[in-house]
Amino acid sequence: MSLKGTPWFPFLYGLFHAYLISHAGNITRVRAVIHQKGDLNLNRIVETEFLSHAVVKMVIEAPDVAKKRKAGQFIVLMTDEKGERIPLTIVDSDSEKGTVTIIFQVVGKTTTCLSDMKEGESLYCVLGPLGRPTEIEKFGTTVCVGGGVGIGVVYPITKALKEAGNRVISIIGARTKDILILEDEMKAISDELLIATDDGSYGFHGFVSDVLQNLIDRGEKIDRVVTIGPVPMMRVVCNLTKHYNIKTIVSLNPIMVDATGMCGACRVSVGGKTKFACVDGPEFDGHEVDFDLLTSRLRMYYVQEKEALEYIRCECNE
Ligand SMILES: Cc1cc2nc3c(=O)[nH]c(=O)nc-3n(C[C@H](O)[C@H](O)[C@H](O)COP(=O)(O)OP(=O)(O)OC[C@H]3O[C@@H](n4cnc5c(N)ncnc54)[C@H](O)[C@@H]3O)c2cc1C
Ligand code: FES
Repeated sequence: MSLKGTPWFPFLYGLFHAYLISHAGNITRVRAVIHQKGDLNLNRIVETEFLSHAVVKMVIEAPDVAKKRKAGQFIVLMTDEKGERIPLTIVDSDSEKGTVTIIFQVVGKTTTCLSDMKEGESLYCVLGPLGRPTEIEKFGTTVCVGGGVGIGVVYPITKALKEAGNRVISIIGARTKDILILEDEMKAISDELLIATDDGSYGFHGFVSDVLQNLIDRGEKIDRVVTIGPVPMMRVVCNLTKHYNIKTIVSLNPIMVDATGMCGACRVSVGGKTKFACVDGPEFDGHEVDFDLLTSRLRMYYVQEKEALEYIRCECNE
């Protein structure tokens, strides 16, 4: 029996939202806000731009999130009422305009639907800011390493580290020049910017981890590394820095469902202990992360994800 339409529905619905908001707030130490379509102009897409053929930058109206968010935090959004909830990092915000910026790679059903949305349309729901903010201090020389769409995720952290007085060396990389994003933006907030492409079409011919090795070899005293990108990239960087005993922070992207610490979907193992990335992370000490577990859990719904993508492709072609 559906509760919708009964006199109890508005009450239970309100109670559930109040619980979700307060629960998220308690755990993350930041009061998360749910903006739902229909709330004035909330969640309206004010700007959308393809940074490369499969990476989109989107600016969304979400004033309360914009006011509260800190580097390292993320939102969960739904494109429509029946859609799934997906987590995306808050890359930037403007508290005066009441907007947040996200940068996402089109990889599956929801990111495809999101990339099809136009300026002026509204998302069904935006929840945030979620997750623990990045630990920002004056560490000394920090190296920020971003790969692929991970450059968007490392950008706000790099900016905050620079503003805290660190000397920031950034290393960004992509498979090839055409899909390298945020070069100018990263340059503007870094003391030194180094670029690598797998195919050698731009910058150093090789991986970001090779560039980091070169920095270490040139005698650079590095106090902290932050590395965000594909799991194999973060694993290689962590193996390298472990060898030199350089503290290294990673931002993990396990599958998330509720993003408030209740469902267990985002379970990761750090230092042999179970952590929930949505409330304990998403950033962790990279030397302690069980990358094998993370990789296998990310593949858990591979078949269903492929089917869902095929389904919307068919729908689009009808
Ligand atoms: C805290 C956090 C921040 C993130 N920030 C960004 C970001 O700024 N930009 C960006 O492009 N991506 C980001 N991601 C990953 C993004 O959430 C997924 O790419 C997205 O959920 C895929 O949805 P889909 O339906 O399009 O693809 P799906 O068909 O669901 O999956 C395609 C691929 O994405 C992975 N994936 C699926 N669902 C999730 C999920 N809920 N969380 C993580 N990975 C998932 C799958 O393992 C698969 O490899 C972030 C993930 C987390 C956990
Ligand atoms: S997503 Fe449910 S516990 Fe983290």
